[in-house]
Amino acid sequence: MTLSILKGKVLVKGKLENRNILIEDGKIIEVTEDTVSSNDKINAEGKIILPGLIDCHVHLREPGLTQKEDFKTGSMAAAAGGVTSVFEMPNTNPATTTLQLLQEKKELAKKSIVNYGLYMGATTDNIEEIKKAENIAGVKLYMGSSTGNLLVTDKEAIKNVFDSGKTVVVHAEDEELMNKNAEHYKDEKDPVIHAKIRSNEVEATAIKSAVLMVGNNKVHFTHTSTKESMEIIKEAKKNNSNISCDVTPHHLFLTYEELKTQRNFAKMNPALRNKEDVEALWKAIDEGIVDCIATDHAGHTKDEKEADYWEAPSGVPGLETMLPLLLDAVNKGRITLEKVTELTSINPAKIFGVKNKGKIEKGYDADLVIVDMNMEKEIKNEELFTKCGWSPFNGWKLKGWPVTTIVNGNIVFDDGEISEANGKEVEFKCQ
Ligand code: DOR
Ligand code: ZN
Repeated sequence: MTLSILKGKVLVKGKLENRNILIEDGKIIEVTEDTVSSNDKINAEGKIILPGLIDCHVHLREPGLTQKEDFKTGSMAAAAGGVTSVFEMPNTNPATTTLQLLQEKKELAKKSIVNYGLYMGATTDNIEEIKKAENIAGVKLYMGSSTGNLLVTDKEAIKNVFDSGKTVVVHAEDEELMNKNAEHYKDEKDPVIHAKIRSNEVEATAIKSAVLMVGNNKVHFTHTSTKESMEIIKEAKKNNSNISCDVTPHHLFLTYEELKTQRNFAKMNPALRNKEDVEALWKAIDEGIVDCIATDHAGHTKDEKEADYWEAPSGVPGLETMLPLLLDAVNKGRITLEKVTELTSINPAKIFGVKNKGKIEKGYDADLVIVDMNMEKEIKNEELFTKCGWSPFNGWKLKGWPVTTIVNGNIVFDDGEISEANGKEVEFKCQ
């Protein structure tokens, strides 16, 4: 079976150029100005084709937390958002901390309609299991507690994880400082205290301490969110080219003020920050300090979120909204399309050693998203595919939307509709 995408534009050395794309058996076999012939055709006139997004940080909640999300619904949200590969976090129930549990999760992940990679979760004593794990996205290290029970605070154990030879993705929040702050605010209930408990200092303290321990190992700081973090990471990168980081769309587009109106629906870890931090993240994107944008897609049910501040879990969904938010930012001149592709496809593929993905080139997997930069649409809770059924961006009117998503040469999302398909396990080069 062959499929061609005709008359669309693709980025060639930073410029949009007319190209026809020919796909066969899930691979791109031609990207050309010439005519191509195929069984099936997509007319992409007036549209742009981007490499499908690779989201290195999602929570699809299987096993054990399927009231919030599952591989099917989460991957449908991904497809609708132009995300063709997701790397799934280990803080499920049970957490993914052994080879056996990893294998079980791999079976569950087969329901995904987009491609997937899995993380192992670090504990104080599973280093031998971690070392033996094959073809994982990396190891997730929680230096501060969040949803679930994964947490490693022992310095020796942290060092061992860094030395494991795997890419270590760090949730950097200092547990001790956070607990001290929580104690201080224990009699308050307003969700705004979230930003004070999980303060800038909490994040900076953890990143600083990790940087002192990483040596020359491969460490990726995820959902970094503050001005201070950007400064520390900028310095750290000078000594270790294996350090990288990502930021989330919610930290780029929202501030802690949202906690006043959206309450626990704007509660996530790390917390939303002030305007100055948001500006610092955008500046760090321009300067190349930020390597990736990742959603930290982490839905919780409305009921769970409506609980009291101390009871309500942290996390927001993001798979369906990341690309439209970024395309809208392109339309507003805040970021270039080339940079968006670098942050959401090229760099995640590079950093995590993903085979054959992240570019629109001959021989690469046919994971693509066709976008309409002129389409204007509002984000509506009731139209989302994520099981949780809400978004902190509900009501936002955006210009620039994904219209068709292709995974392994199969159309999985088109004009608002999802098609059944099977994603594949992502292949990683070095782990
Ligand atoms: O806000 C968050 N939600 N941060 C995390 O670290 C975990 C995530 C979740 O799993 O809910
Ligand atoms: Zn997360």
